Amino acid sequence: MISIEHLSKKYGLLQALKDVSFSVQDGEVLGFLGPNGAGKSTTMKIITGYTAPTEGSVKVNGLEVWEHPLEVKRQIGYLPESVPLYDDMTVLEYLQFIGSIRIKARSAFNSGSLPLAESLARVVKLCGLANVVRRPIGELSKGYRQRTCLAQAIIHNPDILILDEPTSGLDPNQISEVRDVIREIGREKTVMISTHILQEVQAVCDRVIIINEGRIVAHGTTAELERQSESAQSVYVKMRGLKEKIHQLLLDLPDIHEVRHRDTESADIFGFEVTATGSLDIRERIFRRAVSLDTPILEMRVERVSLEEVFRQLTK
Ligand SMILES: Nc1ncnc2c1ncn2[C@@H]1O[C@H](COP(=O)(O)OP(=O)(O)O)[C@@H](O)[C@H]1O
Ligand SMILES: [Mg+2]
Repeated sequence: MISIEHLSKKYGLLQALKDVSFSVQDGEVLGFLGPNGAGKSTTMKIITGYTAPTEGSVKVNGLEVWEHPLEVKRQIGYLPESVPLYDDMTVLEYLQFIGSIRIKARSAFNSGSLPLAESLARVVKLCGLANVVRRPIGELSKGYRQRTCLAQAIIHNPDILILDEPTSGLDPNQISEVRDVIREIGREKTVMISTHILQEVQAVCDRVIIINEGRIVAHGTTAELERQSESAQSVYVKMRGLKEKIHQLLLDLPDIHEVRHRDTESADIFGFEVTATGSLDIRERIFRRAVSLDTPILEMRVERVSLEEVFRQLTK
C-alpha cells in the first residue's frame, strides 16, 4: 500500500504539487490522469524516491520513503518517462544486466525473490519478448522497446509498480498489447499508472485520480466519476466587479465544487466557470446572491459536462 499525505513540491518558484493526498490499496490498479505538466511524473518520482518532496509524507508498505530509500526501491518497480536503454545490448543481455543488480540487492533484503534465470523466463513470457530476446535493443520497434522497459521494471518481482505513461508514443496496436501486459501484471500486483488519455484509464484501471496543475481535482472509480459528472452542473457566468469579490461570492454558494476564472473582458468584467454538485439549479442562487451583493450579471449559461468533456478540458 502507498499512502501519500499533504505532498508539496516546489521547483524553485514553481509549485508543481500542492497538498496532494491519496492512497493506493494493495492489489488495485490506480489511474493517475492529468494533462501534461499536471505533476504526474513529479509525484511518481517522489514515490519511488528519485526526488525529494518539499513537504509531506510518502509511505510504501508503512515505510517512509525518505527514511528507507533502498528498502522501498526493492519493493517498487518503476517505469520512468524515459528509460535509459542500451542499444548495443540484446534484450536478454540487458535484462540479465539489470536483473543481476536488482535481484542481488533484493535478495540481500528479502530471501523470497526468484533466482535470475527464473525471473528472466517469467518477465520474457509476461511481456511477450520471446521472439526478440536475442536482438539488439537498437533494432527493436517502439512497441518492443516499451515491453523491454516494462520487463526491466518488474525483473526483481516487486509488489508495487509505478508506470509513468507506459503507452505514450505507441501506435494503437502496440498500445493495446502493452495494455494487455499491464492488465496481466495488475492481476497480482499493486499498480499505479499515469496517463493523459481517458480511454487508457477506462481500459485498465479500477480507480482514478485526476490531477491538474498540481492538485487533485477528482477521484473515484471510473463509474463513480461518470455518475458524478452526469449529476454535476457547470455554469459560465460573467459579472462586473472586483475579481476577488466575484470569486468569493461564487465560492460561498452552497454545493459548490469548484470556481474557476475563465476569462477577463475588461478591468472589471470577469468570466467564471462554476461547478456544483447538488440537484438544485445554481443559476437562480447565483442570481439572488449577485443581486444582494450588487454585482451585476452580464452573461450566464449552462455548460453540460460529460466525463469525456471534463478530461478534454483538463487535457487541452
Ligand atoms: N526538474 C524540474 N525542474 C523544474 N521544473 C520541473 C522539473 N520537473 C518538472 N517540472 C515542472 O513541474 C510541473 C509538473 O511536471 P511533471 O510532474 O513532469 O508533469 P506531468 O508528468 O504531469 O506532465 C511542470 O510545470 C514542469 O515543467
Ligand atoms: Mg510526465
